[in-house]
Formats: sequence, structure tokens, C-alpha cells
Amino acid sequence: MPGTCVIGLQWGDEAKGKIVDLLTENHDLVVRYQGGANAGHTVVTGGQTYKLSLIPSGILNPKVRNVITGGVVLNPPSILGEIDGLLARDVRVDRNMVISDRAHVIFPWHLEEDRLTEARAVSCGEAIGTTQRGIGPCYRDKVGRVNAFRLGDLFRPGFAERVRKVAVEKNSFLQTIAPAGDAPKLDAEKIIADYSGYGERLKPFVGDTTALLLDAVDADKRMLFEGAQGALLDVDHGTYPYVTSSNSSGLGIASGSGVPGSFYKRIIGVVKAYGTRVGGGPFPTEQDNDIGQHLRDLGNEYGTVTRRPRRCGWFDAVAARYTARLSGVTTLAVMLLDVLSELKEIQVCTAYEINGKRVETFPSHVDDLRDAKPVYTTFAGWQQDISNLTRWDDLPANAKAYIAGLGKILGRPVEIASVGPDRAQTMFAPGANWAPPTFVKS
Ligand code: IMP
Repeated sequence: MPGTCVIGLQWGDEAKGKIVDLLTENHDLVVRYQGGANAGHTVVTGGQTYKLSLIPSGILNPKVRNVITGGVVLNPPSILGEIDGLLARDVRVDRNMVISDRAHVIFPWHLEEDRLTEARAVSCGEAIGTTQRGIGPCYRDKVGRVNAFRLGDLFRPGFAERVRKVAVEKNSFLQTIAPAGDAPKLDAEKIIADYSGYGERLKPFVGDTTALLLDAVDADKRMLFEGAQGALLDVDHGTYPYVTSSNSSGLGIASGSGVPGSFYKRIIGVVKAYGTRVGGGPFPTEQDNDIGQHLRDLGNEYGTVTRRPRRCGWFDAVAARYTARLSGVTTLAVMLLDVLSELKEIQVCTAYEINGKRVETFPSHVDDLRDAKPVYTTFAGWQQDISNLTRWDDLPANAKAYIAGLGKILGRPVEIASVGPDRAQTMFAPGANWAPPTFVKS
């Protein structure tokens, strides 16, 4: 039974959580394999809204096993807060969730470093605009190895001693990056006590998820891999340095989860019907004007994690075609189509002009992307409310033409269209080569 993957093809916030939630009932396991609490996944179901960050969206289906693998970086108080929030709403969180003992742990020094580094970068105009969740510093320690802690280390002898040693180094480093007289002083003993407590609470969830998933492959289990962020934020292939610190394109699934790429056959590329970006970095199709504000208002484009207003603009098909190819996408899902409903005309960027030359490939250097002027193709709007539609055939002709146009440029079929946050506001293309969930009529 092949695995299914859900990957965002833009700069994150493509509404992947909704697709994962929809497909969950056809899977045995939902797997989160990279990123951390920088992600925010909103799922609306049964009239209730759930905001998830680290816990896979499959948690809302009690029959599914949810797996957080070693590719993830985990802030213990934040995942415990998420667990408590779900339990308080009577959502099952017990043996249906397993967290890898290989997952790297975020410590207070990572949060301080993220905050102070960003503050310094702002003053020289070089800020990445991180979510300040300690993601980058934790991944850096993971790669650097000497100061890193994996979740399994919390339960090993010598944990307290290592914290004391690392805290000395971290305090001295924080002093060098903090403004004079403003360096935080981290208390190793408090950290040891806090993290030992977190460890005790998390222990029942901790296991070897690599072994668990490889066994699941052998047992023919149906797995759904839930990507976080978007492929344009991929540390190796995205708009570096304005990226996150993990492989957020489809390329990160294998390394993050331990499940080889030959296992997954269906890779769903999720795109918003327009473009958004949070944080710094070039965004060629950005509309810093009334159109952008219109999209922000109708799409409620404010960060799930940080509540920052998202930058909004037209759909960048050059970028999405690149990330669809990079991620091995087989099928597209177009989200928030209803947000475009009032527009008379809709633009799609189908090429760039860089230094007077027409370019149809995505530039590797951020300076070229900054110089890129979008070349647009215009689509006619449909100017009618589509948010109450549930059948693909009922979509207005211009909406169908828009979706088909995106599919053609990206070279993949669009098989899912979403016209609102609720599960019911989802349509599957007739003739799609896989069974939609039972509760959605196509
Ligand atoms: P970090 O992941 O917190 O280090 O932030 C690096 C960049 O990725 C910043 O531009 C963030 O705004 C962006 N980013 C991180 N996570 C998300 C996400 O879930 N959605 C959208 N942007 C994100």
C-alpha cells in the first residue's frame, strides 16, 4: 500500500492541515517528519477549529496513529501545552501518538539565540523574520552535534551533567550576541529540573519511530506524511537564506522519517490559489496595495503561530512549477479558491524578466529573485460566491479554467479544490484516479 505525502509548494500556510485531515480516514498512520512549533496547522471539523503546531493533524481521528519522527525539533513545554489543550477538548491523545527518541530538543538557549540573532539582524536590515521558536539554533546544534540533546537523552544518566556543561558555553555565547548589559543568564539547575519534569510527562509517548515506520511499511500500513512549511522554505532548495532550517520540500520526507522514497507513490502538492509569504525575503508577485489587502482580508492572512500579517500577492507559477518538480508531485490541491471570487481579473506569474531577459526557471540566487519582474498571464474572474459549492461540476466555467490553467502550467492534474475552511467545502475532480474520502461527494 503506497504512502501519501502532503507538501506545500509555496512559502507555507497553504492549508495543508485541511488536506491531511480529509485524507486521514483512509490512512493508518499520520507522520510529521520535519520542522517544529514554527508550523501552524488549522483544522476545522464538526464546527470546531483546532490549531495544531507539532502534533499531526491526524490526532483528530481517534483511529489513527500519529507519529512525530526524529527529523522534527521539539520544544517540550510547547508540545505538552498542545497535548493539554487537546485533552481539555476531549481529543484522544495517548497510545495513538508516538514521538521519536531521536527528535532534537529545543532548550531556552535556542529561544534566546533566535530572539537575539533576529534582533541584531533587524538592525542591519538582514532579518529572516523567523518565528522565534528556536528552530534554526536547534537544527544548528543538531548538525554541530556537541551541544545537542535528543529526546532520548533526557532519560539517560549524565543528562544533568551535560546540561551544566552546555549551559556554560551557551551563557557565554549569549553574552557575545546580546546588547551590552542585556544578556540573559540561563540557570542550568532550573533547566535540569524543568526538562526532567517534561521528560517524565513525555516518556509514555517516546519510542523508536524509525523502527515503527519500517515495520509499518512491511505490514502494508497506509501512511500519510504531513509536511510543514512550504517547499520554497527548504533549507537546501528554497529561497536561501530566507528559509527555514529543515528540508520542507518533498525531499525531506525520507531523511526526516526514515521511510525510503520508493514507498510513497502519491505526492499531493498543496497550493493556495494566490501567493503569501511571512517573514523576510523576495516575493516577486507581492501586491503591497489594495489587491494584497483584499486577499489578506478575505483569506484571513495572519500567521497561525505569530499572528503576523502575511504578505499577499498573485500566484507565482514559476516558483510552484519548480517546487512541484522538486517534490515529485503527482497531484495538486488548490486551496482558498473562494478568496478570488470577487476579482474581475486574476493574474498568474508565468515567467520572470531578470536583467532584461525572460526566464521561466526559478533562480538559485536570492538576488536574482529579488530582481525578477513577474510576467503575468491574465485569467478572467468568476465573480460569484463559490463557498457553498460541493461538486466540481458546479464550479463556474472561469473557476474551472483558472484551476485547469494552474494544472497545465505546473504540469500536474489538479484533483482537489477547496472553497472554505470546512471539510464539506472541498471538491474532488471527476475521474481523479484515487478514492476521495467517503464523506465528500464528488
Ligand atoms: P523559522 O522556521 O522560525 O526559523 O523561520 C524561518 C522562515 O520561515 C521565516 O520567514 C518564517 O516566517 C518562515 N516560516 C517558518 N515556519 C513557517 C510556517 O509554518 N508557515 C509560514 N512560514 C513559516
